[in-house]
Amino acid sequence: MRTDQAPVISRLQYEAPAYAIDQVTLEFDLDPERTRVKSRMQVRRMPGAAPTAPLLLDGEDITLQSLLLDGKPYVYAQTDGGIRLDKLPETFALEIVTACSPRGNTRLSGLYMSGDAFFTQCEAEGFRRITYWPDRPDVMSRFTVVLRADKSIYPVLLSNGNLRSQRPLDDGRLEAVWEDPFPKPSYLFALVAARLVCREQRIRSRAGREHLLQVYVREGDLDKTDHAMQSLMASVAWDEQRFGLSLDLDRFMIVAVSDFNMGAMENKGLNIFNTKYVLANPATATDADYQHIESVVGHEYFHNWTGNRITCRDWFQLSLKEGLTVFRDQEFSQDLAAQSGGESARAVKRIEDVRTLRAVQFPEDAGPMAHPVRPDSYVAIDNFYTPTVYEKGAEVVRMMQTLVGRAGFAKGMQLYFSRHDGQAVTCDDFLAAMADANPGSALDTHRQQFGLWYAQAGTPRLRAQGRFDAASRTYTLTLTQACQPTPGQGEKQAQVVPVRMGLVGRDGAALAFRAGDRTGRGPEALLVLTQPEQSFVLHEVDADPIPSLLRGFSAPVILDDGLGDADRLILLAHDTDPFNRWEAAQRLALSRLLPAVCEGDLKVDAAYLDALRAVLRDPALDPAFKELVLTLPSEGYIAEQLGEIDPPRIHQTHQAMRLALAQQLQADWEQLWHTLAPNRGYSPDFADAGRRGLRNLALTHLCLLGDAQWQGRAYQRVKDADNMTDRFDALAALVGSRAQLAEAALQRFAAQFAHEPLVMDKWFALQAGAPGAEIEAIRALMRHADFSLRNPNRARSVISTFCQGNPGAFHRADGAGYAFWAEQVRALDAINPQVAARLARAMDRWRKLAPPYAQSAEPVMRELAAHPGLSADTREILGKALA
Ligand code: ARG
Ligand code: ZN
Repeated sequence: MRTDQAPVISRLQYEAPAYAIDQVTLEFDLDPERTRVKSRMQVRRMPGAAPTAPLLLDGEDITLQSLLLDGKPYVYAQTDGGIRLDKLPETFALEIVTACSPRGNTRLSGLYMSGDAFFTQCEAEGFRRITYWPDRPDVMSRFTVVLRADKSIYPVLLSNGNLRSQRPLDDGRLEAVWEDPFPKPSYLFALVAARLVCREQRIRSRAGREHLLQVYVREGDLDKTDHAMQSLMASVAWDEQRFGLSLDLDRFMIVAVSDFNMGAMENKGLNIFNTKYVLANPATATDADYQHIESVVGHEYFHNWTGNRITCRDWFQLSLKEGLTVFRDQEFSQDLAAQSGGESARAVKRIEDVRTLRAVQFPEDAGPMAHPVRPDSYVAIDNFYTPTVYEKGAEVVRMMQTLVGRAGFAKGMQLYFSRHDGQAVTCDDFLAAMADANPGSALDTHRQQFGLWYAQAGTPRLRAQGRFDAASRTYTLTLTQACQPTPGQGEKQAQVVPVRMGLVGRDGAALAFRAGDRTGRGPEALLVLTQPEQSFVLHEVDADPIPSLLRGFSAPVILDDGLGDADRLILLAHDTDPFNRWEAAQRLALSRLLPAVCEGDLKVDAAYLDALRAVLRDPALDPAFKELVLTLPSEGYIAEQLGEIDPPRIHQTHQAMRLALAQQLQADWEQLWHTLAPNRGYSPDFADAGRRGLRNLALTHLCLLGDAQWQGRAYQRVKDADNMTDRFDALAALVGSRAQLAEAALQRFAAQFAHEPLVMDKWFALQAGAPGAEIEAIRALMRHADFSLRNPNRARSVISTFCQGNPGAFHRADGAGYAFWAEQVRALDAINPQVAARLARAMDRWRKLAPPYAQSAEPVMRELAAHPGLSADTREILGKALA
C-alpha cells in the first residue's frame, strides 16, 4: 500500500537489476473474489552483481500464500512495497503463490473486473498487484501463461503471444496456455477472460508472412469494429512501408473494455483498448471519433517496435517510447489523410496536433507540474503520463527529423534497431543513434545541446527582428531565445531550435533568397538557432519581405515575430505555408480578443472580417482548413497569453467574438450551409469530414444568432441526421446557443441512445460543458441513473468536462466550483487515484487566477491536500500546485 510518505524516486538513483528472470510460467485460477496466481521463475544473478545482492520483489494489495526456492520454503523479509530475498545462489527456481481480489480492485490497475469479465492493465506499476515481481521495465522475461476459468462465464481466454493449447477441464472450467516468444517487461503482460466476439482478418505482410488480426468486443458491438480493423491493417502496412518494420507475431489482438483508466495499452500481441478508441459506426461515432480510433490503433500497434521490441530502461525514459510513438502515429495519420485529401490534408492534421500541444502542453510547461520530457523525479509515475512526455516528446523527435531529413531519420531508426533490439534503453541512446547515423548533420554537430530538449522544462520563447538592406539585397534576421524558470530549474540554457522559414513580399508573392554560402537560392530555408541571440543574413532578397517563421511549427516554442496587423493579413491571404496562414489568423484573432478581455471593448474590424471572408470564399482551400481558420483560439489558449486570468470574462469575450463572426459573416455561413450539402452517403474520410465540419460550423454560428428558423433546422437534424457527426453537432449548436429547443433535443437524443454508453458520454459531456452550466445542473447529471463514478469515461464526461473543459462556468468568485471539485477529487481518490489525480490538475493554474478566484481556491485546495487518506498520486499533484 502506498502511504502518506511515499518516497520521491530520482532518475540519477538508477541501479541496474541484480537478477534476471529469463523465464516465467504464470498460472491463473481466475475467480472474481479471489484469484490464485502461481508464478514459477527461472532466476539468474547478473554478471556484474555482487554475490550478496538481494532480490527485490514488488507487491501491492496481494496476499502471499507460499514461496519456495528450488522447491523448499525460503525466508523472505518484508519491505516497504514488497519482499526481499537474501543469500541467494547464482541461479535458482523460485515459486510464489499469491491471491488477489479482482472484484475489489477499483483502481483498474493490475487484474480487475469490468462488468463480469477479467482484464489487466499493468503499465506502469500494475503487475505488482498481480504477483511479486521486480516490477521495472529493464527486467525482461519469456512468459508462459496458463489461464483457468469457468467456461460458461468466460469462454474467451487470452494472453500475450501464441495460443499453445486450450482444453475443457473436468470441473467445468476452460484452460488455455499462451506463450509469448519475445522476452518482455512485466508492464506489457496482459490477460483477458470474458464472453466476447471477434472480427477476424487474415493478412499477408510485404515480407510474405501470414498474420491473423482480431478485434474482440462484447456481443452486440461487432458492427462497430470495421474501422478499428481497417485502421489496424493500415497501421501494419504503413510501418512496413515507411520504416521497414513488420509484425513479428502470428496473431495480433485488440480487445475493447469499457472500464479503462487511459486510452489504450500496447501489451505484446494483446492490445487492450478503452471502447472509446475501438467502437465506431456512422450512427454512434463522430468524424473526430473515427480519427481518434485511427490514431490510437496506430499508436498502440507502432509500440510493438518502439516500446516493446526496444523498451525503456526506467520510467524516466518514458518519452523514449511515448514521444517516438506519438510522432509515429501523427506521421501515420498525416500520410493517411494525404492519401485521400492530398498535401493540404497533411497541413490540416499538423495544425490540429499543434492546437492540442498548445492547449494542453504549453500550460503544463508554464505551471507547477512543468517537468522535462525526461523527468528527474516523481512520486507516482502515473502522474507523468503527460502531454509533455507524449506531445512535447513527439515534437522533440520531429525536430530530429527536421534536422536530419526524412531519409536521415529512417537511417537513424535503422541504426537504433540494429543497436538496441531486445534491450531496455534511454532517451540518450535514441538521440545517439539518430546523430551517429547522420554524421555532419546539425543534429550530430549539436547533439549535446540538443539533449537539453530532454533535460530542460519550459517552453522557450523566441523573438524575431528583421532588417532589410536594399543596397546589399540582404535581410538580416535576428533571433533571440529565452526560457522562464520552472520548478527546480532556475537557470535555462539556450537550446537547438530549428526554424523553417520563408519570405513573403508585400504583394503576397513568395520571395526567393539564399540563406548561406553552401545553399542555393530558393523560397525556403532551415535556420538552426543555437545561441541566446543569433543573426542570420539572407542574401539576394529583392524586396522588403515579411518573414514567415517557424513554418509547419518546426519547434515547440512561443514565437514573438514582431509583425503587425497588415503583415499578418498578407500572410493569412498569401503564405504558401498553410500552417503559417492559419497561425496568422489565430494571431489576428488574439490581437482583437486580448485587449477586449482586458479593456472590455471588442472591436471586430472590416479588414479582419474581409480576410476571413476571403478564406471562406476561396475555392482552392479545403473546407477542413477553412474550418480551422474560422475557429477562434480556445479560451484556455487565450488565458495562457494573459498575466492574470479571469475565466468568466474570457468566456464572455470569446462568446462576443463568435457572435460577431456569426452576424458579420451571416451571408457566408448561409451560403456554406447550402453549398456544402452532402451529395452521397456517410464516409469518415478526410474530404467528407471536412465538408461536414465546415457546414456544421456554419450551423453553429447561425444558431448563435438566436434565429428560430436555424434553430429549428438544427432540431430537425437532431431528429433525422443519418450520422452521429451531424446529429451531435446540431445538438451542440442548440445547447451552445442556449436555444429553447435544446432541452427537447437533449431528451430525444437520450431516449434514442440510452443503450449506447459512448454516445451517452457525449450527451453527459455536452451538458457539463454547456455555457453557464450551474453546479446544481452538474449534480443533477450525477444523479442520473446512468451516471457512475466508477466508470472513468462517465466520471470524466461529467466532472472533468465541467472542471477542466468549462472554465467560464467552473471558475466562480464564490468558489462553489472549487468546493465541488474538491468533493469529487476526494470521492474519486477513494476509488481510483489515477483518475482522481488527473482531475486534481484542474487547479494547476490557480496562481494565475484573478484575486477573487485565487482567494477562494486556495483554502479549498489546502483543505483537500490536508486530507489524511489521500493517495500519493493526488497528494503529489496538490503538493506541487501549492508549493
Ligand atoms: N502505454 C499506454 C499508451 O500509450 C499508456 C498507458 C498509461 N498507463 C498509465 N497507468 N498511466 O498509450
Ligand atoms: Zn503510447
